Order: sequence, then structure tokens, then C-alpha cells
Amino acid sequence: MVVKSADFITSIANSARISELNKPQFAFVGRSNVGKSSLLNALCNRNKLAKTSSTPGRTRLINVFEINKSFQFIDLPGYGFALGSKKEQNAWQELIGTYLENSSNLLRVFVLVDIRHEPNEKDKQMLNYLYHYQIPFSIIATKTDKISKNLIIKNLNIISSVLSVGRDDIIATSSVKKDKLDAVWDIIEQDLKRVCNGS
Ligand code: GTP
Ligand code: MG
Repeated sequence: MVVKSADFITSIANSARISELNKPQFAFVGRSNVGKSSLLNALCNRNKLAKTSSTPGRTRLINVFEINKSFQFIDLPGYGFALGSKKEQNAWQELIGTYLENSSNLLRVFVLVDIRHEPNEKDKQMLNYLYHYQIPFSIIATKTDKISKNLIIKNLNIISSVLSVGRDDIIATSSVKKDKLDAVWDIIEQDLKRVCNGS
């Protein structure tokens, strides 16, 4: 995919506005700090399109980016962010839940897990949720540049077994090294083609 344009469109804090999203969408979910915003930037070849931060919980709204004026990347707030009041956490969950269940143009959710850490209960809950609502998803392991090749293989086996997904179905990426981003684009392109063909 040649990214000719990538524009920030809007931030959504209120589930009532979700119906405004009317183009094909790909959403990025995962724990705070896993690298959602960084991956989105790397895919678009832009450094500062989505705000990234070493402080977990940087993205608190549903941020919408439009690629080539034809489809959208949805940067969702990270789950499992320990800070913030219970009320605030519930509000985020409600926002994400409403988005995932009601966005008729959502083609796929990319679920990000940090290659260095074993997926936790929240990650498993997210997958169960996606299975339950029959939302197509792909698993992306992030930050492969931070560990050795051997450890990548070992940790992919762990992630695959904890999440009960095939090891070859996990895309092991690095946004810093721009590694395996083409595999993510392949999936996006296939989904978009399917929409165009009406299948
Ligand atoms: P929230 O918005 O808080 O949910 O976080 P996020 O998932 O959007 O994470 P973000 O992209 O802001 O990245 C968090 C931190 O991880 C930042 O310091 C990034 O620079 C770093 N990071 C993200 N991806 C990579 C990667 O592939 N390699 C390395 N080495 N660091 C990364
Ligand atoms: Mg973010």
C-alpha cells in the first residue's frame, strides 16, 4: 500500500458519535504502552501522526485517522491502565465496547501484545470478546527489536499457547525497525479488496 495521505480526523469521547464513522475501519487495541500509536505511525510512515508516549494511558479517546481518503485507522485507548479513577476506567471500557459492537464499518481489530510479556487476563478477555461478537481480528506482537531472535521465537510460542492462536498467525513487528509492517499491510489490503468485491 502506498500511503499518499494520512490525516487525523477526530477524537471521539462520547459513544453517540460512533455512527459518524462511515468508512472502512481497522482498529488497534491492546494494553497501555504496548505500541498501538507507534505502530499506526510506522504503518503510515509518519512520526507524529498519533501521539506516542512512554507514559501509559496516553491515548484516552478514540482517535480516528484517515488513510488515502478511503479508509480509517482507529487508535483505541489502552486497556489495563492502572491510573485514573474506577469511574474513568469504566467510561473507557464503555466507549471501546460501544465502538466494537456498533461500528458496522469495522473490518478488523489488530490486537497488540508486547513480545516481551506473557499476555494477561485483559488480553484474553479482549479475544473472547472479539470471538463472542464475531469481529475479525489479528494478533500483532510488538517491540521485537527489544529482544534477541531466539527469545522472539520462544516468546511467540508462549503467546500462541496462552492466547490459543496459531504461532504463524501472530505477526511479530517492530515499529522502530519497521519490521514486518508489510505483513500487516497485506492483511489490510485483503480486507479492503473483499469489501470492494462485496464478499
Ligand atoms: P497508550 O496510548 O498509552 O495506550 O500506549 P500505546 O499502546 O499507544 O503505546 P505507544 O505507541 O505510545 O508506545 C509506548 C512506548 O513504547 C513509547 O515509548 C514508544 O516509543 C515505545 N515503542 C512502541 N513501539 C515500539 C517498538 O517497536 N520498539 C521499541 N523499541 N519501542 C517501541
Ligand atoms: Mg496510544
